[in-house]
Amino acid sequence: MNTYDLIMKKRNGGILDQEEISYMVNGFTNGEIPDYQMAAFLMAVYFKGMNHEETTMLTMAMADSGERLDLSQIDGIKVDKHSTGGVGDKTSLIIGPILASLDVPVAKMSGRGLGHTGGTIDKLEGIPGFQTSIEESRFIQQVNDIKLSIVGQTANLAPADKKIYALRDVTATVDNVSLIAASIMSKKLAAGADAIVLDVKVGSGAFMKTVEDARLLAKTMVAIGTLAGRETIAVLTDMNEPLGNAVGNILEVKEAIACLKGYGEQRLMEVSKTLASYMLLAGKKAKDLETANQMIMNAITSGRALDKMKEFVQAQGGDASYITCEEKFEKAKFTVEIYGRDLMQSKEIAANQTKVYLNCCNNQEIGMVSLILGGGRQTKDSTIDLTVGLELKKHLGDWVEMDTCVAVLYGNDMEKMQEAKKRFVCAYELTQDKPEHNPIIYEIITKSDLENE
Ligand code: URA
Repeated sequence: MNTYDLIMKKRNGGILDQEEISYMVNGFTNGEIPDYQMAAFLMAVYFKGMNHEETTMLTMAMADSGERLDLSQIDGIKVDKHSTGGVGDKTSLIIGPILASLDVPVAKMSGRGLGHTGGTIDKLEGIPGFQTSIEESRFIQQVNDIKLSIVGQTANLAPADKKIYALRDVTATVDNVSLIAASIMSKKLAAGADAIVLDVKVGSGAFMKTVEDARLLAKTMVAIGTLAGRETIAVLTDMNEPLGNAVGNILEVKEAIACLKGYGEQRLMEVSKTLASYMLLAGKKAKDLETANQMIMNAITSGRALDKMKEFVQAQGGDASYITCEEKFEKAKFTVEIYGRDLMQSKEIAANQTKVYLNCCNNQEIGMVSLILGGGRQTKDSTIDLTVGLELKKHLGDWVEMDTCVAVLYGNDMEKMQEAKKRFVCAYELTQDKPEHNPIIYEIITKSDLENE
C-alpha cells in the first residue's frame, strides 16, 4: 500500500476499505505521511465524499489513534454534549452546572476556539485561577464528588484529529460532513461517555449553512454513535445570529452566570434547556421532556444550579467570588457603541427612512468582529485577549431607529475597534417590513430517524 495510490483512488471517487483508511490516519499521526500528501487526500475526500462505512471507519481509526478515557469509575450514566461550533455559544457553561445540580455526572473534555467560533476552555480561563488541565484521577474524583468537571482535551485524546483538524483549518477542508462527523465523534467516543447529545448548528455562523446539510451531518453522527453503542441524539439549532447577547470569552462567562441567576436571554435559554432536557432523558433522570424542563427551571429558580457553578469553579482552583459578583471580572479598556444610524448609513437607506428592521446578518462576520478585537485565534498559536468582544442590544427581527443602540464593542486597541465596527455594520441586512423570525430549534434527530429511511 502507498499514499500516492490512496490519494489517487479517492480523487477518482473510489471507496476505501478499513486497512486503507487506517494506513492514512496512522501514517499521518505518526509523521510518516507528510502534510502535503494528507492535504491532497483531505481535498480528495472533500470533493468525492465518503460513504457511511468509510466515515465510520475514519472515526474509529481517529478515536483509536490515542488513549480512550475510561469513565467506568464514575457512578451513573455519563452524558456528554458537543456543539459543532458557533458564535456566542456558551451553553456548556450553563448546562454543566444545571445537570450536575440534578445529579447527572458531567465529565467533559472541551476544546478551544478555532476560526470564527469560540471554545469553552478559553472562556473558563477567564475565571481567575481556573485550571483547565488537571490529572485524570482528579478529574474522575471531582465528577464523583460534585458531578461536574470540564477540562481541555488531553494531548493523547484522538491525536489524529488534532493533527488533521489543524491541517483542515488551513487548507479549506473543514466544512465537509464526513470530516466533521469523524472529527467530532472520534473525540466523543474516545472521551468515554455513555450517551451523547449533539448541538448541530445551522446558518451563516455555522459550518453547515442549510438545514439539509445540518440534517445530513446530524444523521451521520447519530449513526456512528449508535453503531458504537452510545445513545446519540442531535438537536439542530439556529446559528444565523450569535446565541444570546455576548460574544467574547469573559463576556460570555458573565452571560452564562446571568442565565444561572435566572435572567438569561430567551433564545440562549431555549437552546440550553432543550439540550439539557435531552441530556436528562439520556441520563434516565427524567421520564419525559416536560418533567425535564420543570426540573431545569427548579434548578435555576432554587439557586442550586448557581451554587453548583461556584462549587465547580472552586474545585478547579478558580475564584468563586467572581460568580457571585460578576463586576469583579477584568474589563476591556474601551467601548464603542454602534447605533441604528451607523447601520443605515452603511446601507444608503433612503434619507427619509428613520426606522428599519434587522433582517439578517452574516454571523460568521460577527464572529470575525470578536476575532479582530483579539478574542479569537488568527493562527492556532495566537494568544487571545479574554476581555474583548461585543454585546448585542438588538436581535434579528427587532426594529431600530437612528439613535437605537444595536451593539457595544469592547476592546483594548482603538484601531482594531474601528475596523471591527466597519465589519459589524456591513454584516447586517436591513428591511422596511418586519421579517420572519428563524426558529431557534429546527429539529431533533434520533436513532429512530435512521430506521425510518
Ligand atoms: N468541531 C470539531 O470538533 N471538528 C470539526 O471538524 C468541526 C467542528
